[in-house]
Amino acid sequence: MTTQLLPCFPTADAIPEEHRLSGEINERRWLVGGQLEIWEGPCRAVHSPVWIRDAADGLKPVVLGSYPEMDEAHSEEALDAAVAAYANGTGVWPTMSVAGRIQCMQRFVSAMQAKRTEVVKLLMWEIGKSIADSRKEFDRTIEYMVATIQALKDTDNGNSRFTIVEGTIGQVRRTPLGVVLCLGPYNYPLNETFCTLIPALLMGNTVVLKPPQYGTLLFGPLLEAFRDCFPAGVVNIIYAPGEVVVPRMLASGKINVLALIGSSRVADHLKKQHPKSHRLRAILGLDAKNAAIVLPDADLDLAVQECVTGALSFNGQRCTALKMLIVHRSIVAEFLLRLTIAVERLKIGMPWEAGVHITPLPGPHRTRYMTEALKDACDQGARVVNAGGGEVVGTLYRPAIVYPVSEGMKLYREEQFGPLIPVMPFDDVEEALNYVITSDHGQQVSVFGTDPVQVGALVDPLVNQVCRVNINCQCQRGPDVFPFAGRKDSAEGTLSISDALRAFSIRSMVATRASEPNKALLNAIVEGHHSAFVNTGFIL
Ligand code: G3H
Repeated sequence: MTTQLLPCFPTADAIPEEHRLSGEINERRWLVGGQLEIWEGPCRAVHSPVWIRDAADGLKPVVLGSYPEMDEAHSEEALDAAVAAYANGTGVWPTMSVAGRIQCMQRFVSAMQAKRTEVVKLLMWEIGKSIADSRKEFDRTIEYMVATIQALKDTDNGNSRFTIVEGTIGQVRRTPLGVVLCLGPYNYPLNETFCTLIPALLMGNTVVLKPPQYGTLLFGPLLEAFRDCFPAGVVNIIYAPGEVVVPRMLASGKINVLALIGSSRVADHLKKQHPKSHRLRAILGLDAKNAAIVLPDADLDLAVQECVTGALSFNGQRCTALKMLIVHRSIVAEFLLRLTIAVERLKIGMPWEAGVHITPLPGPHRTRYMTEALKDACDQGARVVNAGGGEVVGTLYRPAIVYPVSEGMKLYREEQFGPLIPVMPFDDVEEALNYVITSDHGQQVSVFGTDPVQVGALVDPLVNQVCRVNINCQCQRGPDVFPFAGRKDSAEGTLSISDALRAFSIRSMVATRASEPNKALLNAIVEGHHSAFVNTGFIL
């Protein structure tokens, strides 16, 4: 029995009181040089993925409010503010002691915690993420910030010493890179943006942050905390169409680090805009098409359970989602049967509903893409396995299991980033391996099986294709202490709590010959606290 999709949308009075927004949010503030300026130019309306049903069963999107649609001149003003605050590394922030920066960040964490309810509610309304997952995203971000602060203390304490090698005394510490442009994605607008923003700031860089196209208003409740917790110009926040302002900012040559979670096509284009590309460090989280390989002896219930959450958590809108299931032909019929039962059990509804799994997509352009990709597969011989799979009403899309998917179909290679589950059979494990080898993506893979010989033999070639091989579990980013990286078109640089601190910094050292006068000089610098860099203090 499949759920009817139209009644899943609420009438206006059916939205529970506690989850309603108190009114439209028309954000006009932007943060530049330590000031919240008021924007008086054109603005962009914000529509929720949640649509409202009227008495005649018509649907229309909920208007959440609007935000500034800034231009190149104003984005450059923000960039110049970040450049001025960095001041070629002589600014207050890049020269502040690590302990001082940590104190500012701790103040920010407290201020942010006080905004949890507002931010979570906006996350839910702006991107249609379930309330449970929206809360998880917020809490996980706070945990990430706290852990990053601790990791910085550990790193810095480890560097609070001199090393003497072959008559040279050295002290090595990590120092900032300059101005960072921070661009996050809509699926994790808070978490993924902060996963680059926080380490970038802690390492002493200054930042221009542009929130993603969806998940924008949720930065509003944090603007004052950004202004109050950091020195002027350290964090600058603009609202602008990325395609208009970002290339121009890069072309100015004033950006030292591009931190982008987005597509490889955009990243390639942006990197080329910088006049001296060797000066630009790129930290990129990009496209992915993670596959699950289900071997003949896999525990099928476990594999199905992991594949369902792997493929459909947040409607499949995760870079780490399982986007292709490659199943041994001898078990594919049983696998599809169990997968169908599991998918049909998922609750479809509005993000505030308890236990909801499938929620509205950001807009008709996304449901249109799902429909096109599904039609393309069906035109080439695949079928929808689950009853009603692919049905669309408004922004709700019923997940579709598509089988058999083969080369030449969009779903074979394109990153669907939505509730479509392509399944293809294999006879020889080399075919499954070859799918991963010939892919342009190289983030992660899942392998389901119980034979140590076969699983072991698959792991070895796979670790040279992707950056994480998950055995009998879905692909995922966390826990955040583990490296999160990708090969080929999937990433540049590695993120994790400690790797991100490295990514946004460079090692610098102070060195001298180990003569008595030089030793005395270093001691005097340390004892007199004359340098933030040359010191042996511990941050507790
Ligand atoms: O969209 C990419 C996210 O970083 C994935 O994180 O695997 O924890 O959902 P997750």
